[in-house]
Amino acid sequence: MQPLFDCNAFNIMKMWTSEEIISRVNQQIESVGQGRRPEGLYAPIRYVLSLGGKRIRPTLLLMAYNLYQEDISVIMNQALAIEVYHNYTLLHDDLMDRADMRRGNPTVHKLWGDNTAILSGDTMLVLAYRLMADCPEQAIGKVLSLFSETALEIGEGQQYDMDFERRMDVSEDEYIEMIRLKTSVLLACALKIGAILGGASKEDADNLYIFGERLGLAFQLQDDYLDVYGDPKVFGKNIGGDILCNKKTYMLINALQRADENQRTELEQWITADTCVPEEKIRRVTELYNQIGIREICGERIRMYFQEAEKALEKVALPAERKALLQMFADSLMEREY
Ligand code: IPE
Ligand code: IPE
Ligand code: MG
Ligand code: MG
Ligand code: MG
Repeated sequence: MQPLFDCNAFNIMKMWTSEEIISRVNQQIESVGQGRRPEGLYAPIRYVLSLGGKRIRPTLLLMAYNLYQEDISVIMNQALAIEVYHNYTLLHDDLMDRADMRRGNPTVHKLWGDNTAILSGDTMLVLAYRLMADCPEQAIGKVLSLFSETALEIGEGQQYDMDFERRMDVSEDEYIEMIRLKTSVLLACALKIGAILGGASKEDADNLYIFGERLGLAFQLQDDYLDVYGDPKVFGKNIGGDILCNKKTYMLINALQRADENQRTELEQWITADTCVPEEKIRRVTELYNQIGIREICGERIRMYFQEAEKALEKVALPAERKALLQMFADSLMEREY
């Protein structure tokens, strides 16, 4: 747990690639909930955890730790905790968003029903806390307080997200704050927990947090973009779900602001209609986005947040070579299609 400030020591420390980390996370996550019963509670948990996903949060946590320490197995439980927690939010999120597909497969509530999605999700939250608390004693206070604050923020973000479905006057700033809460803080928390456990200075830990926060804003904007423009086979979720739920995404907010009178009237009609043919609504709203030039506007904003993330990582007081793998992993996210 002692910070390593000797640059020579850095040179001989093994740096784990994201591929190596993801493969270890995938192996070890199989042990979560193993041997517990009843099957009706744990089968959905094993199901969702076995569907893969990008494993971004545990990868960020372990890569941040690996900036300072070599043996990532020491904090594997915290990495698993953050992934189990993330998957818990997905079970409940899919119920709230009425989503049928996740990672190319039917969602838990579709297969087992709403009540199971609630209870298996709750159980995953508890499993996540137990894994997170199983950490080196000198860091436990800091780690659990950051994790708890983050979990509260995510719930707050998710509530704003739902509240905004029924509002027509959501501003861009309100949207950005909502996605910071529901998505960014978990990426930021993962990085900061890795840094704390690795023995980083307070400044480094805070800069890694900001790096995650900016990355998270870009990441959620991409998610909203892919929800309209993604290839469903690659994205793994149904396209147009946000349009059907009247989610006040960056794209919809900007479309409403930039639309001419006719376009705005039509958009408002779709948003306020009590009933509609879903495919028709998705098709027309997407056409309006295309006419208004929303793809480009959204792409620009995504690039801006990626650049801000890069700047925050630059401020972490380590040699650039030391941060190269983390930077490469962030770069790979910029190109993502799922
Ligand atoms: C989905 O997260 C929820 C969002 C915050 C957009 P991911 O895109 O990281 O989902 P998986 O874990 O890779 O499936
Ligand atoms: C998800 O946002 C944020 C959390 C799960 C906390 P979305 O609702 O956009 O995520 P997807 O698109 O369902 O993965
Ligand atoms: Mg949602
Ligand atoms: Mg959703
Ligand atoms: Mg989404």
